[in-house]
Amino acid sequence: MSNGFEGEKVRLIAVEKNDLDRFHGWANDADVLHLAGYALPTSRRAAEKRIEWLLDDDPNQKTFVIEDVKDGTAIGYCRLFDIDTFSRCAELAIVIGDKNYWDDGYGSDAVRVLLRLAFGRMNLHRVALGVYGYNKRAIRCYEKVGFVQEGIERKRHYCECEYHDTVLMSILSSEFELPKWEEPG
Ligand SMILES: CC(C)(COP(=O)(O)OP(=O)(O)OC[C@H]1O[C@@H](n2cnc3c(N)ncnc32)[C@H](O)[C@@H]1OP(=O)(O)O)[C@@H](O)C(=O)NCCC(=O)NCCS
Repeated sequence: MSNGFEGEKVRLIAVEKNDLDRFHGWANDADVLHLAGYALPTSRRAAEKRIEWLLDDDPNQKTFVIEDVKDGTAIGYCRLFDIDTFSRCAELAIVIGDKNYWDDGYGSDAVRVLLRLAFGRMNLHRVALGVYGYNKRAIRCYEKVGFVQEGIERKRHYCECEYHDTVLMSILSSEFELPKWEEPG
């Protein structure tokens, strides 16, 4: 059986304590800040607290480090959160923190692997997300995987003295092709 946590370019692995420096760095990168929604730089103490929180087993969220399958370099993280086991829905977020890996298919591959977990072994039926309207790269990445736009939150996000729309997107399990070995029996 194939490794369910591995795609063509990336592998998803658990977050560990020694990821702190990387997470702290990514959370303070100006370009990532602009695109991924942290309003202000993050202190080391806040990053430590966040890592501690991610290390705990939490049924409401699952976070994974994204590593390059070629050499194991950690390049970012992705997560499912607000997991609702009654309606079988969750929200998705992703950050490829190492900008050298942008625009090379790593993000879409990571999202595909995460959706495989969501719709396969976690048996969810809907995954949704919000993305700033100006984040054209992220919107294209999600569209490539099969997300569709389902609405706009008008002037939802304040950045650089202007209000910007947030685009709401989602994908249903029926719209995502699971590998045979991940399909329910
Ligand atoms: C968004 C992100 C996860 C996407 O990962 P990625 O590896 O760069 O994405 P991919 O290479 O799989 O796909 C990006 C696509 O956007 C396209 N693209 C890049 N800039 C673009 C632009 N300005 N307008 C339209 N498309 C653009 C790329 O050409 C590529 O499409 P293609 O494969 O058809 O050529 C990653 O760039 C990232 O983490 N960015 C910073 C944080 C962030 O924005 N997180 C998401 C918050 S919602």
